[in-house]
Amino acid sequence: MVQTQILHIDPHQPEPAAIAEAAAVLAAGRLVAFPTETVYGLGANALDRDAVERIFAAKQRPFSDPLIVHLAGATQIERVAEQIPPAVERLAERFWPGPLTLVVRRGAQVAPNVSAGRDTVAVRVPAHPVAHALLTACDLPIAAPSANLFSRPSPTTAQHVLADLDGRVDIILDGGPTTIGLESTVVDLTQTPPVLLRPGGVPVELLLDLLPDLYVPAAPLIAAEGEATASPGTLLKHYSPHASVFLLRGDGIAARALAQTLLEGLHGAGLRAGILVPDEESPLYAGLHAEVVSMGPAADLLAVARYLFARLRELDSLGVDVILAREVAAGGLGTAIRDRLFRAAEGRVLDAGAPVDTQRWLAAMQPARQAMTTDQPESNRHE
Ligand code: TXA
Ligand code: MG
Repeated sequence: MVQTQILHIDPHQPEPAAIAEAAAVLAAGRLVAFPTETVYGLGANALDRDAVERIFAAKQRPFSDPLIVHLAGATQIERVAEQIPPAVERLAERFWPGPLTLVVRRGAQVAPNVSAGRDTVAVRVPAHPVAHALLTACDLPIAAPSANLFSRPSPTTAQHVLADLDGRVDIILDGGPTTIGLESTVVDLTQTPPVLLRPGGVPVELLLDLLPDLYVPAAPLIAAEGEATASPGTLLKHYSPHASVFLLRGDGIAARALAQTLLEGLHGAGLRAGILVPDEESPLYAGLHAEVVSMGPAADLLAVARYLFARLRELDSLGVDVILAREVAAGGLGTAIRDRLFRAAEGRVLDAGAPVDTQRWLAAMQPARQAMTTDQPESNRHE
């Protein structure tokens, strides 16, 4: 355990003293959580194996899941990568600094545990002024996963970081809420053709302009538990609140009708439910047995993305056992939002346009309740 120190910092003009303090902690091999434009990252010196090991320990992350290395500028890539393909320059010019991560050949200096022993490394240049100032001040490539406990929703505020990592991180730079709210898009340039590993802040439609041969999987990539293959970090259970999440598919009226049946059953079984729906649909759910949380206007994908993880955490703090979340259409940022909700739901979809055996579904919810009574949510104790 360490004493976690929170340093408030101006997100637009970060105070040099706080940046210098955090940079010194990184140079000493310790951990600093910092805001990026996507989510908060948990940073350590990517050239220092012991420092990197601390990240995995703090997050309780499996060593098989590699980390992203953050750089102050695109020219720094030569410090961490080899055989850099020409596409990097084109992509960097257009999307860096920004929410795009590129997987390339790992350079010899990078601690091998950053890449979980692979010969590749994921790199990105974040656009947030605090991240940029920190990377510049320490003059080191910084390995940083999202600053949450493994499989929990990613943190978009310093309070989320503290809730998950109090006593496990030396400094949290609190620069307020992040703007994008979802992680970067990850593209593997070491495969031919290049492969989209994770949809994220840069919509895939924009990437296709510069990478026309990019392979975009039709459905979210899903790796089996314990599988350490081509697509690490694609585990189905990810971004999950403590409650069991189910996606509600179908048109608004049919979904509402299905939800009502399910909610009555849950209520009868003594289970508490939450609903996550676009603003337009939230009035439909008034008066039902559920905590209703709006995800923002359906047409405003920026707003939906920005607060998505915060809303999943909010539903947890309301103490619900089950969350029914409306599915979001793919396209633009919607593809990344859809991917995160799908993983939060561990792939469980209830299709209002098809027959659903509600009795069987309810029976399956009972174990969830028993698990909840022994495994109380603790992640929101600071909120
Ligand atoms: O927006 C973001 O990307 C945030 C901020 C902090 O930069 N970071 C982030 O890191 O989301 P993390 O560790 O939560 O997700 C990194 C993703 C994982 O899916 C991981 O498997 C993948 O990138 N990744 C990292 N290195 C890789 C590699 N060498 N090959 C394939 N995938 C890799
Ligand atoms: Mg993560």
